[in-house]
Amino acid sequence: MSFRVLGTGKYVPSKVVTNDELSTLIDTSDEWIVKRVGVKERRICTTESASDLAYQAALNALENANVKPEELDMILCTTVSGETVSPSMSSMVQKYLGATCPAMDINAACSAFIFMLETAAGYFARKKVKKMLVIGTEQMSRIVDWDDRATCVIFGDGAGALVLGEGDNFLNSKLNSFGGNEVINIPNFVGKSPFYKKEAQDPYIFMNGQETFKFAVNAMCKDLQYVVDDLGLTFDDISMIVPHQANTRIIDFAVKRLKVERERIYVNIDKYGNTSSASIPIALDELNRAGKLKHDDLIAMTAFGGGLSSAACILRW
Ligand code: UT7
Repeated sequence: MSFRVLGTGKYVPSKVVTNDELSTLIDTSDEWIVKRVGVKERRICTTESASDLAYQAALNALENANVKPEELDMILCTTVSGETVSPSMSSMVQKYLGATCPAMDINAACSAFIFMLETAAGYFARKKVKKMLVIGTEQMSRIVDWDDRATCVIFGDGAGALVLGEGDNFLNSKLNSFGGNEVINIPNFVGKSPFYKKEAQDPYIFMNGQETFKFAVNAMCKDLQYVVDDLGLTFDDISMIVPHQANTRIIDFAVKRLKVERERIYVNIDKYGNTSSASIPIALDELNRAGKLKHDDLIAMTAFGGGLSSAACILRW
């Protein structure tokens, strides 16, 4: 036993920041951002925080699934940009919903949503839960360095959520970690200890863009190929590939290498930017509500990011 998806939800802040608006703040242009990254606009928090986005996405998913908060047996959340280290993001969502089940967070940066689905499958396999809420939520605008044009143009804020119930639809996954902070690093604050001797680092995202790019294309191809081959399938059996929305050029490179038609790859980075662990559940909600996912369709997901980490999975809708 694993799970099946009972409902989906998403929530993004109402403030739209276009590339032209960004160009008034930093030395960049709509042309550069569209060509090199594929983002046209992103949603940015003004008064909301990551837990507010998570709560609204959760409400939308529960409504879509016709499930009440009191029916939930577990809440899991992924985030790298929550406003508190403790309470966890999931604990705050539990409070806002008025739920009483256990709640905990998972951190695997941009790959975390797939790591979370595999964790959720374990709870269902042990028959510890009948209904679970899983949420990816990010306020990336809080942790990007707005003076670093190579990163601040990429990211956006948002949240996506799924309600899971008993079933056998999570068919396969592959999770990878390649520990190190050289390529992507988000330092925490260093504290005030009078005994600590190391110099403080800025608590913003550092990313070696080109190394991340190479890692991402390789990881996407290798992980997707693994989960498909391992089930004795081919890419012709997959109705839709939902990749982490990091950069359209990464997606285009991977598609070319895998020889899959572009129409079967979902891309919405133009509207939201890279929302880290929220990008896959936001995409799933858009596809679901647009009626593009049919009963029994096989959906492959793939993600990569800080850790370094990467993952892929296959889900039957
Ligand atoms: O979700 C987490 C995982 N993250 C990713 O997957 C991101 C992966 N990496 C990327 O998407 C790309 O590497 C970036 C979008 C980060 C950068 O694109 P690039 O084509 O690799 O650009 P680059 O770093 O090689 O920079 C090319 C030029 C540089 O100018 P010079 O040195 O050639 O004169 C940069 O200074 O573009 C310049 N540049 C910009 N110009 C206008 C960098 N950022 C900007 C900008 N606007 N925003």
